[in-house]
Amino acid sequence: MKSYLTNLECTYCSETFSADEPMRLCDKCGKVLYPRYDISTASKNFTKDLLRGRAPNMWRYFEMMPIREECNVVTLGEGFTPIFETKALGGEIGSKALFLKDEGLNPTASFKARGLSAAVSKAKELGINKLTMPSAGNAAGAMASYAARAGLEAFVFMPQDAPEANQKEVTVSGGNLNLIDGLISDAGVISRGKATEMGLFDVSTLQEPYRVEGKKTMGYEIAEQSGWILPDNIIYPTGGGTGIVGMWKAFQEMEDLGWISSKRPKMFAIQAENCAPIVRAFENGDEFAEPWENASTMAAGMRVPSAIGDYLILNAIRESGGCALTVSDTEMADMTNIIGSLEGFFVCPEGAATACGAKKLIEYNLIDSEETTLLLNTGSGLKYLDMLP
Ligand SMILES: Cc1ncc(COP(=O)(O)O)c(C=O)c1O
Ligand SMILES: [Zn+2]
Repeated sequence: MKSYLTNLECTYCSETFSADEPMRLCDKCGKVLYPRYDISTASKNFTKDLLRGRAPNMWRYFEMMPIREECNVVTLGEGFTPIFETKALGGEIGSKALFLKDEGLNPTASFKARGLSAAVSKAKELGINKLTMPSAGNAAGAMASYAARAGLEAFVFMPQDAPEANQKEVTVSGGNLNLIDGLISDAGVISRGKATEMGLFDVSTLQEPYRVEGKKTMGYEIAEQSGWILPDNIIYPTGGGTGIVGMWKAFQEMEDLGWISSKRPKMFAIQAENCAPIVRAFENGDEFAEPWENASTMAAGMRVPSAIGDYLILNAIRESGGCALTVSDTEMADMTNIIGSLEGFFVCPEGAATACGAKKLIEYNLIDSEETTLLLNTGSGLKYLDMLP
């Protein structure tokens, strides 16, 4: 297989860069870089038929992935997670066509596996051998696991009150875990300092160009698994926003490949009541989001007070005709039990938040009960045992 990767491009000022040397943010304006592909050639050769018979993991879209040599792919079997119809839950929240994509079935029990499989593969391809990341959650575990599989060193800087599961999975994978007496923002400062001091490559989300490519495969899969007709609505628990912007990128790529029509789902971003910078910016009509003060929620993945890709998230929501809204921790906890007892999934609080969001959107008539609505359960509830009430 051959990747059609051409270069990196700044999502803000359009400056282009090589995809064959280590890069983080745009050198010119400091914003997010995206890998770009020669889609006009790919559209002639990379047909949907080629997917038949390929392994059921996210690397089945290799031609539109940023790795040049297949031997550099670092995999634990991530992706191609199933989509289930959830009739009982739909009945409970007022949807006649409700579906759930269960990302808790990924390696390391969350969708972070996708981004880190892509980022660690590219790091390996570029000859980088020491990675670092400030993380209070699932990304750290995923980075440590993929780094171990690739034979790279992993350093993690984590607030000391981070969920136990996330701490354990770093140490079990031989990662270098540093617990910080402070917040994720303090961990970020220390991680950046150590990166300079020790020659570590920082793979914080959207601050390097490749994690988004792993996450975009959720968009490819949703299309393929739905017979190349996208659902009317996608509801996504938004922290750094890599998943929502990744899917939005995938939809454009698939349209350019000639795989889907121009019809897009409405994209809905759900945030926690006490950490909702994107919701506030959406409501104010702003291009960027102001950092949220004193962020707190048990949904660690949504405890992101400031996202570097804020303008990309806001753009995807607005272009799609969706919106952003908040749910409380109590609503998430109650919904975790409702989903568990009605459907048998032990979802993470972030996944529960999407069902809370769908319920409100139906109540407010922002989505119709007849429309197809897809919830993303981004991880397993088993990783949150010490956080759940
Ligand atoms: C379980 C879970 N859901 C959602 C998110 C938010 O993801 P994103 O950064 O793509 O918005 C995270 C991120 O840490 C997560 O771990
Ligand atoms: Zn730029």
